[in-house]
Amino acid sequence: MKVLITGANGLLGQKLIRLYEERSDVHVIATGKGANRNPNGSHIYEEMDITLKQEVLTTIEKYKPNVVINTAAMTQVDHCELNSKECWRLNVTAVEYLTTACKSSNTFLIHLSTDFIFDGTNGPYKEEDLSNPLSKYGESKWESEKLIEASGINYAVIRTMLVYGIVPDMSRSNIILWVKKSLEEKQTIKVVNDQWRTPTLAEDLAKGCALIADKKAEGIFHISGKDLLTPYDMAIATAKFFDLDTALIEKADGSTLTQPAKRPAKTGFILEKARRKLNYVPVDFQEGLAILKAQLNHV
Ligand SMILES: NC(=O)c1ccc[n+]([C@@H]2O[C@H](COP(=O)([O-])OP(=O)(O)OC[C@H]3O[C@@H](n4cnc5c(N)ncnc54)[C@H](OP(=O)(O)O)[C@@H]3O)[C@@H](O)[C@H]2O)c1
Repeated sequence: MKVLITGANGLLGQKLIRLYEERSDVHVIATGKGANRNPNGSHIYEEMDITLKQEVLTTIEKYKPNVVINTAAMTQVDHCELNSKECWRLNVTAVEYLTTACKSSNTFLIHLSTDFIFDGTNGPYKEEDLSNPLSKYGESKWESEKLIEASGINYAVIRTMLVYGIVPDMSRSNIILWVKKSLEEKQTIKVVNDQWRTPTLAEDLAKGCALIADKKAEGIFHISGKDLLTPYDMAIATAKFFDLDTALIEKADGSTLTQPAKRPAKTGFILEKARRKLNYVPVDFQEGLAILKAQLNHV
């Protein structure tokens, strides 16, 4: 099987490459914007900016992959809110280019979406629950889901949330790394205690993508961790795990933070479909912390 990964320098992209390195039956074509920043592995790397239609069409035509996994996106929620045109170009228009390319090469597309397509009034959510995005990021991802469905290609949409993990040369941090670094520097941090998520270990998300790619399982899948926690709970668990000072962590009410984008209060995913159809079983949050810790000295 030939799998082409977009956004291969990102957190999920690098984890996917690592996962596929263990498999001799999968040939990976890693693509990303700019040069390869992943020091590991022996995969092919091609520069591919997904907002450049011709580049997308030519690259997919050249490799004729069986599966494309689109991990590339504008992922920072506040940046999307403040730069909505750029967000739309990357999270919607570029996805249209990918569907066009997948259609002409009969390629299965796996696309990544988010819990932010929901408004957070009724979580945890299952796949068929009604969407109502509160932010530009959420809107763009919801639009991308709809356009893929309307395109007539064979596809899966994976919705995930609050992904944590570590890889070399990351373009953005995540809650665990932020809490750990802040507390090591003896900084006091305010962490929201009135929002709920099921945080996702990046390795679990990569595993979910691979299970779907293997089966070419079609439709929408919720892939996340299994523990429903507030960011404050996650921060306390992280501090305790790394033996750092929990007294530096203050509880905050989401409404007191001045963030450009609105966040849903309670999301979290019901994973029943992924368990039943894919045999997807994520680690719990404590195991996730242990896996991340073991990797800290190797990046
Ligand atoms: N992380 C989360 O908490 C989370 C939650 C819900 C959904 N998701 C979704 O899951 C997917 C993977 O997320 P992630 O955590 O792996 O994000 P990430 O680490 O930010 O990776 C995204 C990658 O996309 C690349 N990219 C940006 N613009 C591009 C372009 N025009 N062409 C090609 N590549 C481009 C980025 O390049 P640079 O490295 O050069 O910036 C980055 O490497 C995304 O679709 C995201 O929306 C993530």
